[in-house]
Amino acid sequence: MTICILVLAALCLVFLGRTFFRAVGNSPAQTESVSAVSQSAEAGTDQEVPEEPDATPTPEMINLTEDMIHTGDLILVNSSYPYDFAANESSIGLVNIRGSQSFYYQVEKTDYEVAGRMLPSLDQMIAACDAAMGTSETGITSAYRSYDYQQNVWDTTSEQNGEDYARAYVAVPGYSEHHTGLAVDIGIFYSDGSQGSFSESQNAVWMDEHSSEFGFVRRYAEDKVDITGIRNEKWHFRYVGLPHAVYMKQNNLCLEEYLEYLGSQTSAENPLTVSTSSGTYSVWYTSETSIPKPSGDYQISGDNIAGYIITVRV
Ligand code: DAL
Ligand code: ZN
Repeated sequence: MTICILVLAALCLVFLGRTFFRAVGNSPAQTESVSAVSQSAEAGTDQEVPEEPDATPTPEMINLTEDMIHTGDLILVNSSYPYDFAANESSIGLVNIRGSQSFYYQVEKTDYEVAGRMLPSLDQMIAACDAAMGTSETGITSAYRSYDYQQNVWDTTSEQNGEDYARAYVAVPGYSEHHTGLAVDIGIFYSDGSQGSFSESQNAVWMDEHSSEFGFVRRYAEDKVDITGIRNEKWHFRYVGLPHAVYMKQNNLCLEEYLEYLGSQTSAENPLTVSTSSGTYSVWYTSETSIPKPSGDYQISGDNIAGYIITVRV
């Protein structure tokens, strides 16, 4: 009997002991922080125990929508990627060139329009070209085109020059950069209103060299025909903005190649850094639909494929 009581008492003690140690026991992390606090408390009796720093503040997030994939200065519009009219309807911001240009230069038709956000850069590029040439002959032969307008260009070109020619120089309606309001064709206009050949002019040479400084790229070059699917067009310029145009020019990349590079080689952790005379920029691709809001000046453009390009001025 006595033995039974002793065994029972021993078992009770073991059980209580285990419960107690489980209650005060800590995970390794908790144990460390407990001993760190005790050490600093021991170091000086009148020293305050430092407060634990706050956890990293939660960053403000921004949502990137499906429509945003199809809008912005870097959207790729070619025979594989049509222009999304619906997604751009509220943001294209067309303005009449004649009514909004900051100085007078000629436009072939008075109702020509472009996206208002690129007009100041277009004005500056034309002014700089004219100044370099010492003339005032640079003007616009084509600008924004609606679907129906492009259909008309396609039909007329096919009738006059055949379908092969049209395929080489004219985008199928719905697949033209002119729908974006970010593309223009440049021409030579004499003071009597007649036109000259832009392709054979020194203006074309100057513009090929300098358009990137104003955010424009010559979109269809001879050495990129296999990629763009369009023949050499010395007159067609597309606004992509800074610093993109500068990087594309410096590295001889057409828009297809540039977007492929950004999509495969960059991320928020590994951005492309581009320095231009107007500042330094960080550029990266993401397909995430919620990202931390970048600090400072930033722009987001879709690629019109599957993701977004974030551009931050640093
Ligand atoms: N000429 C260009 C390719 C267009 O038609 O959009
Ligand atoms: Zn064009």
